[in-house]
Amino acid sequence: MIKREYWNTRLGLILAVAGNAIGLGNFLRFPVQAADNGGGAFMIPYMISLLIIGIPLLLVEWALGRYGSKIGHGTAPAVFDSLWKSKIAKYIGILGVIIPLVVVVYYTYIESWTLIYSTFSLLGLTPSTPVSENPQHYLEPFKNFLVSIIGANSQSSLFLSVPFYTYLFFVVTLLLNLYILYRGVSGGIEKVARFALPAIFVMAIILMIRVFTLSSPDGRNFLDGLGFLWNPDFSALLNPNVWLAAAGQVFFTLSVGFGAILTYASYIKPKDDIALNAVAGASVNEFAEIILGGSIAITASVVFFGIAATSQIASDGAFNLGFMALPAIFANIPFGQFFSFLWFLLLFFAGITSSIALAQPAIAFLEDELGLKRQKAVLILGVFLFISAHIPIFIKGALDELDFWVGTFGLVVFALLEAVIFFWLYDSKKAWEEVTRDNDINLPSIFYYLMKYVAPLILIIILTSWSVQMLPEKMSQHNVNIWIARGFIIFMIVLSIILVKIAWERRKNGRAST
Ligand code: TRP
Repeated sequence: MIKREYWNTRLGLILAVAGNAIGLGNFLRFPVQAADNGGGAFMIPYMISLLIIGIPLLLVEWALGRYGSKIGHGTAPAVFDSLWKSKIAKYIGILGVIIPLVVVVYYTYIESWTLIYSTFSLLGLTPSTPVSENPQHYLEPFKNFLVSIIGANSQSSLFLSVPFYTYLFFVVTLLLNLYILYRGVSGGIEKVARFALPAIFVMAIILMIRVFTLSSPDGRNFLDGLGFLWNPDFSALLNPNVWLAAAGQVFFTLSVGFGAILTYASYIKPKDDIALNAVAGASVNEFAEIILGGSIAITASVVFFGIAATSQIASDGAFNLGFMALPAIFANIPFGQFFSFLWFLLLFFAGITSSIALAQPAIAFLEDELGLKRQKAVLILGVFLFISAHIPIFIKGALDELDFWVGTFGLVVFALLEAVIFFWLYDSKKAWEEVTRDNDINLPSIFYYLMKYVAPLILIIILTSWSVQMLPEKMSQHNVNIWIARGFIIFMIVLSIILVKIAWERRKNGRAST
């Protein structure tokens, strides 16, 4: 077996894990979800979801990863196979490789937009129309700019007409990601996190302070923005959709249920702590999400445009708040170009420390299960990502379709499988021992019940309600674009089944010959 890598230092590990969790989700997705679900109405389900399913499942995934370190395999197929003596365990585990791999295909593309925006802001190439010049349609120029970058103005019903520079920036972003991965876990990922995480915090704090000193002509200031998010609205507790959105955001932001935490955790030593690491990583992430992420985009938008308009902007599209409203606000303040540059550079740093984490399970699969050297694994991944990215880049609607199946639906399925395989099909007593051994902090025994009963039950409820609410509508969509995206996912499943077969054949022969 090839010698596996380990994290270099505890601090480096925590920064890498925080970098994994802190991403576009914290600064773009969280504000949109919160604004879309009534601000204060969102925060209570969010906190409850965090405590009763987010953290417990995070610990489950860490424990599975540390178990992987013990057996020398940092992938879900190997870990599931070792825990659950069933032939299908390893095939179910492929979800923990495919899900992050499909996400990284479109995540890297969105990440490249942030690089375009920050570069263009620096060069003064972003729109700068003051709101006063365009009071009725103040977002128009900013919308047109985004539309032109992603080619959404094309006449064709199938293809987007992406300009050359978008393609170029994507290639640059992809190469940067691959280079970090090529340098390895401690030599690449950990080094980048040591630099990027502090930078993210500094940039976010500068932006937050700037937002806190904004005011609108009609007298709104940041307190209106904070009030929108932090005044609890208990009526929303009765709305199941707010709960679904809150739970979905918690999973997304913690990176839980994707298989990526499992892989990162497999690079700790087999007898190292997981509890303190998991809680520390999650705390840093939540600070970045609700304090920093909650204070920039929503607050600025409420000050400038008011609560009603902010909710409208958020519900019009996932990217409208960060990519249109914020640039529009920056166009109206002194040194706005600089703040715009900072905002998008922040997003880029947050994005790249997440996209490398999303790609690592596939690297680990090629290394740990197929015995490839890292260089070769990165090369194969690079070619694969480059080719696959043409789907979200050029096919209309493909990005959303991929995001629904893997980034919304798939992760809930995989999180459920993790908990069920560990606590039901393996052995709940041994699973709890595996979670609690060798930790630097003790986990209260309530976590046992949360992991074994509460989290799986809630996941089943979420899946059922989605199956009733969303799946019928989803399944009735049949245009070519959408089937290209679905076809890609199906292709990935078939491909990875074949690869798992090959990997396990190899193992059998390897064992026989030694
Ligand atoms: N948590 C990341 C964010 O907030 C996104 C993400 C989801 C992710 N799943 C992941 C990142 C898995 C790395 C690995 O943007």
